[in-house]
Amino acid sequence: MARTCLAVILAAGDSTRMKSSMSKVLHPIAGLPMISHVMRAVRDAEIQDAVLVLGRDADAVAKAGAVEGMAVSTVLQTERKGTGHAVLMARDAIAKGFDEILVTYGDVPLVRSETFQNARSLLSLGADLVVIGFEAADPTGYGRLLVEDGQLVAIREHKDATEEERKVTCCNSGLMVINGAKALGWLEKIDNKNAKGEYYLTDLVEIARADGAKVVAVDAPEAELAGCNTRAELALLEASWQNRRRHEIMLSGVSMIAPETVFLAFDTVLQQDVLVEPNVVFGPGVTVESGAVIHAFSHLEGAHVASGATVGPFARLRPGADLGPDSKVGNFCEVKKATIGKGAKVNHLTYIGDASIGAGSNIGAGTITCNYDGINKHETRIGENAFIGSNSALVAPVSIGNGAYVASGSVITENVPDEALAFGRARQEVKPDRAKQVRERALAFKAAKKAGQ
Ligand code: UD1
Ligand code: CA
Repeated sequence: MARTCLAVILAAGDSTRMKSSMSKVLHPIAGLPMISHVMRAVRDAEIQDAVLVLGRDADAVAKAGAVEGMAVSTVLQTERKGTGHAVLMARDAIAKGFDEILVTYGDVPLVRSETFQNARSLLSLGADLVVIGFEAADPTGYGRLLVEDGQLVAIREHKDATEEERKVTCCNSGLMVINGAKALGWLEKIDNKNAKGEYYLTDLVEIARADGAKVVAVDAPEAELAGCNTRAELALLEASWQNRRRHEIMLSGVSMIAPETVFLAFDTVLQQDVLVEPNVVFGPGVTVESGAVIHAFSHLEGAHVASGATVGPFARLRPGADLGPDSKVGNFCEVKKATIGKGAKVNHLTYIGDASIGAGSNIGAGTITCNYDGINKHETRIGENAFIGSNSALVAPVSIGNGAYVASGSVITENVPDEALAFGRARQEVKPDRAKQVRERALAFKAAKKAGQ
C-alpha cells in the first residue's frame, strides 16, 4: 500500500525585506503565486494532505494555496517563534497519524516534486529523517549540514556555528521528511536555547539521533532550493524558472530562435513543431498547436492558436482570442474574445474584439470592430469568405454574411446579407478641371496675406 504523507508548508513569514503590501508567497513567478508553485510540487509528489501554516495575509495565501487533488487545511501562527514552532502549529494534523511528514517552505518555489519523491523514497527504505541539502556557492547565512560516515549528525545554524563549521559548504534547504510516527515526540523536544532564541526545526537532527534514529541528508541542485527574501531574489527565481521551462519546452520539440527573450507562463502549452521567434511574451492561458509560428514581438494571453496559424510580428492576442487552423493575425493587430476561422486573414493594423470571423474571410488593413458603446460590449459576426475592405469600421452589433463584400473606408452600422456588396461611405465625386480653380484660390489667399503684412 502507498505510504501516507502529510505536508506542512511554512508560510507565516512577515516578508519584511520584500518591501511589499502583500506576503512574499503571493508574488507571482511565471504568472502564478509562489505558494501555488509549492503546492503543485507537493501534490505532484503524490501527497494527498497538507497543512499550510499562515501568518501575514492568511486569507489570500490560503486561497492561492488551494490546489486540486490535495486536501489543504490551514493553521494560523500568530507569533513567529521559529521553524520548529511553526511546524508544531500542525500538531493536530500530524497526530492523525501519517507514515511521513514533509516540511517545506512557501518561499522556496522552484522545488520539484521529484526532489520530494526522492527524499520520501529514502524513508521508505528505512531512514527516519531525511534532510534535503545543497552545495551552496555562498553558504553564508544557511544552516550547515554536519555529516559523519554518511549520517547527518547535526545542522548548525550560521549564527551558532564555529569558524570550522562555517567552512562547510553543504547547506540545509530547510526541507525535510520525518518519520510520521515519531515526528510529534521529537518536535515537542525542541527548545529555544540558541543564538536567535527561536525554536529551530533543525534541532530535530540531534533529537532524532539521540533517539537512535537513522538520519541522512540528500542532495538537490541549489537552483531548485533558492529562497526568496527580496525583489532582486524574486527576479532571479523568475529567470531561473524561465530557463528551466524554456529548456523543457525545447526538448519537447519546440523551436526558439532566441530562447532567452521568450517569456513563458506557468501553464503555457506549445505543441511540437511550434516556432517562436525572438521577444515573445506568453501570459497565462495560452495554447499553441503544432506547426504554428509566433513571429517576433508578439504578446499572447488567454489565447488558442490552432495548427498552422501564424501570429505577428507585433501582434497582441488577448483573452478569448481563438485562431483557427492556418489563419493569420499579422502586424499591429489586436484580437480579443474573438474566433478567427480556418484560413482567415487579419493581416494589418486591425482591432477585432467580441467577434467571430468565418473561414476564408479577409479582413483589410485598418479594420476596426467598434464593439463598445461606452457602456456595453456588442458582437460583430462575419461569415465565411467575406471581404472587408481596408479602413472599415464595423459598428457592433452587426453581422456580415457569407461571401459579402464591404467597400474600403466603410462605416457599417447595419447587417450585410450573404453575397451582398455594402458601401458604407459617400460615393466618390470627380469634378473635371476643378484643380486649377482650387490652386488659384490658394495662391490668391497667400498673396493677400503677404500684402497685409
Ligand atoms: C532556515 C533553517 C536553515 C536553512 C534555511 C534555508 C532553521 C532554524 N534554519 O533558516 O538551516 O539553511 O532556512 O533557507 O530552520 N517560518 C514560519 N514561522 C516561523 C519561522 C519561519 O512560517 O516562526 C517560515 C518562514 O516564513 C520561511 C521559513 O519558515 O518561509 C524559513 O524561516 P526563516 O526564518 O527564513 O529561516 P532561516 O533563518 O532562513
Ligand atoms: Ca530564510
